[in-house]
Amino acid sequence: MEVKIAPSLLAANFARLESEVSRVAPHVDWLHLDVMDGHFVPNISFGIPVIEAIRDVTDLYFDCHIMTTNPDAYLPELAKAGVNLVTVHIEAAPDPTRAKQRAVENGLDFGLVINPVTPFQAIAPYVEQCDVVVVMSVEPGHGGQTFIPDVLPKVEEAREWVENRGLRTDIQIDGGITPETAGQATSAGATVLVAGTAVFRADDPAAAVQLLRRASDIR
Ligand code: DX5
Ligand code: ZN
Repeated sequence: MEVKIAPSLLAANFARLESEVSRVAPHVDWLHLDVMDGHFVPNISFGIPVIEAIRDVTDLYFDCHIMTTNPDAYLPELAKAGVNLVTVHIEAAPDPTRAKQRAVENGLDFGLVINPVTPFQAIAPYVEQCDVVVVMSVEPGHGGQTFIPDVLPKVEEAREWVENRGLRTDIQIDGGITPETAGQATSAGATVLVAGTAVFRADDPAAAVQLLRRASDIR
């Protein structure tokens, strides 16, 4: 499976979002949008009006990582704002089947996310309902943190689960992805790499993405 690169807008310069998005768009596969509410995570990032505004300036596939309490409540508005995929934390959504149903009703692709301390088994029963499963490789809440290699066995577990069932579910890894950690993640079975700092803070984002792709090929 081809690896997808999904830069996280959280690392962009918020004073000039349009040019930041255009700078990376030709080189990447998805745009990762980290929505935070200051409750589920200690930080507040951006929300629906900002997503709506950037939808007008790009055709990229919008991957919205929801870090809020009561994530289901926002799905209709996120869909209207132009989001394509919502990923919801199992820690915030005790009933993932209802979240999935809400996503389908709103024409959204759906995924479940696990924090570094949450075992893969917490989402295993729902993987067949997911387009993507996300393994956090940092504590959610901030960009620019250091990759936690201890989560790699969970990526392997997810890969095995998906393959044993003949599923085409993407496995995304989120947090601390650099050319060094990208290879570890894809070797473990990740197919989508979220990279905020590594892409948006690079002088040459095209070269940065190229480095990530090259690192992902070497397994
Ligand atoms: C953390 C976010 C990540 C983060 C990734 O809560 O979910 O998507 O922005 O940023 P880097 O690549 O800088 O770790
Ligand atoms: Zn994220």
